[in-house]
Amino acid sequence: MTPIIELKNITFVYPATSRIILKNVNFSLKPGQRVGLVGPNGSGKTSMFHVIMGILKPQKGTILFKGEEVNDKEDFRKLHKTVGLLFQDADDQLFSPTVLEDVAFGPLNLGATPKEAREIAVTTLKELGLEGFENRITHQLSGGEKKLVSLATILAMKPEALLLDEPTNNLDIETRARLIDVLNRLDQALLIISHDWDLLEDTCNDIFAMDKGVLTECDKAYLHEHRHAHRCGRIEHRHIHKIIPVVNVDPRVGQPVH
Ligand SMILES: Nc1ncnc2c1ncn2[C@@H]1O[C@H](COP(=O)(O)OP(=O)(O)O)[C@@H](O)[C@H]1O
Ligand SMILES: [Mg+2]
Repeated sequence: MTPIIELKNITFVYPATSRIILKNVNFSLKPGQRVGLVGPNGSGKTSMFHVIMGILKPQKGTILFKGEEVNDKEDFRKLHKTVGLLFQDADDQLFSPTVLEDVAFGPLNLGATPKEAREIAVTTLKELGLEGFENRITHQLSGGEKKLVSLATILAMKPEALLLDEPTNNLDIETRARLIDVLNRLDQALLIISHDWDLLEDTCNDIFAMDKGVLTECDKAYLHEHRHAHRCGRIEHRHIHKIIPVVNVDPRVGQPVH
């Protein structure tokens, strides 16, 4: 199956700096594949997304979209019709006065009539549990609401792949659960940057890690311990943890990292 996106030997340095942000990164995202991307702050995850979208231009390497090299603005315009980016900061995503205008913007841009665009926007908002938000003032929304509306602006364009940059930041538990539910009902390819390990285990099949610009696949599960303290902790009790099926576990017991 031809990947939707492929990165080959990508090296990226911000102009006027000397630190290499992405070091010879190779990656591919196939139709329907669901990939999580973890890594410490500043390791290059967002930069990788921006390279894929053409916001940043790598000094070395090749970006392929459905098997074809992406070089100029016209190539990226085609990519943008198929690949949607949820920005880390929702304020970078939303720019219209009202929610409806923001969500209808993408479909309008892709050639829908105003009536069609409005219908798509209303339906998409409904699918995300945001009915009644149509006339809300975008900049007055809470952080979590902005995240969901941002996701609506992307889903309204019916992309084949979604790049989500820390989608659960600022979400309360219920909204986070709704987001996971929405993501699990999508059949699009997903690439999700997150520090929310449970979100990634819930929604993704493959996990990659970025460390100082080097991307590696995490193909094995490591058994590890969590320790914590709280009041009355000596009384026997249980916590409600999600049970992750432990498959492909490395036989060496990992060092507890928490
Ligand atoms: N416009 C910029 N100019 C110079 N350095 C930048 C710029 N934007 C980000 N950086 C630096 O690049 C590194 C990687 O950033 P980023 O890709 O945002 O990391 P992550 O998303 O993994 O937290 C960080 O050290 C960050 O400070
Ligand atoms: Mg980031």
